[in-house]
Amino acid sequence: MTPLSFSMLRILSDCRFHSGEDIAKTLDVSRASICNAAKTLEAAGLEIDRIRGRGYRMSKALEWLDRGKILSLAGSPFEIEICDIIDSTNSELLRANGPHGRIVAAEMQTNGRGRMGRAWHASPGGALTFSISWRFDRGAGFLSGLSLAVGVALVRAMKTCDIEGISLKWPNDMLYSFHKLAGILIEVKGDMLGPTTAVIGIGINFRLSGKVRENIDQAVIDLESIPCRQPGRNALFAAILRELEGALDAFETGGFEAFRQEWTAHHAYHMKPVRMKLPSGKVEEGIVAGVSERGEILLDTARGRLAFSSGEVSLRGAS
Ligand code: BTN
Repeated sequence: MTPLSFSMLRILSDCRFHSGEDIAKTLDVSRASICNAAKTLEAAGLEIDRIRGRGYRMSKALEWLDRGKILSLAGSPFEIEICDIIDSTNSELLRANGPHGRIVAAEMQTNGRGRMGRAWHASPGGALTFSISWRFDRGAGFLSGLSLAVGVALVRAMKTCDIEGISLKWPNDMLYSFHKLAGILIEVKGDMLGPTTAVIGIGINFRLSGKVRENIDQAVIDLESIPCRQPGRNALFAAILRELEGALDAFETGGFEAFRQEWTAHHAYHMKPVRMKLPSGKVEEGIVAGVSERGEILLDTARGRLAFSSGEVSLRGAS
């Protein structure tokens, strides 16, 4: 994405037709540049209608992230920075050694990252992607259940926006109808004994275009496909920040144990048969029996009850 294509996207996001000539005049560039910018937008996964004699438009309106709106709705003391394009909001906070409570959100990430070295895919404005830096006095070992606690905060936020039917998948996914709606990536810097800074990255699919879906090799869903009163990205962002603030404080005090029951109640695979893929490539099969106070998943297998920590382990439903 180029700055010009972003400027064009801002013009088109009202869902009305704009002629190439008008856009070119507004942005003070040639019509050929506008034609190239439209191609760039399509390559980035946006669905643009072009009609001869009428111009360009986006078929669905796009709500841009608005710092003022988010802060007034969240009513919290967070320090928020919103950028159009960044490599990864997690990488930015890791580089900046982010101060406690700093948030970076982006309309588009060029290198959005997921767990286990996977990529996180979204079109510009098609997801809510942000990271928050949070300092804990305790060591890295204490943070093992943090991504599960953040999952609980996300479910609570969805409920405050009247979005029902959300579940969680160990260790870091939020699901709707067994399809991935959001992911959490936590990266930790600091000593084993503390203090530590956790960079908590959250990506929520709002609108997945066909082009973006082509890059994703698992069952996914976006918020726009869920039957609910659509909250919009700014309102949902604010709701998440409100829940996160309380959840992170509660985690610092009580660890994952304070969230364990609520997390289990929302686990899509609780008491279900699953396959765990281990870093060695080996697969363990069993029935999910719950999670430990450290956030490990407990699996009843032919070899007895086994506990797995999130590390590089992935869970798949067996049926
Ligand atoms: C996963 O599904 O494995 C985790 C996905 C996390 C994606 C978010 S988007 C904001 C933040 N920045 C990143 O590069 N990744 C996280």
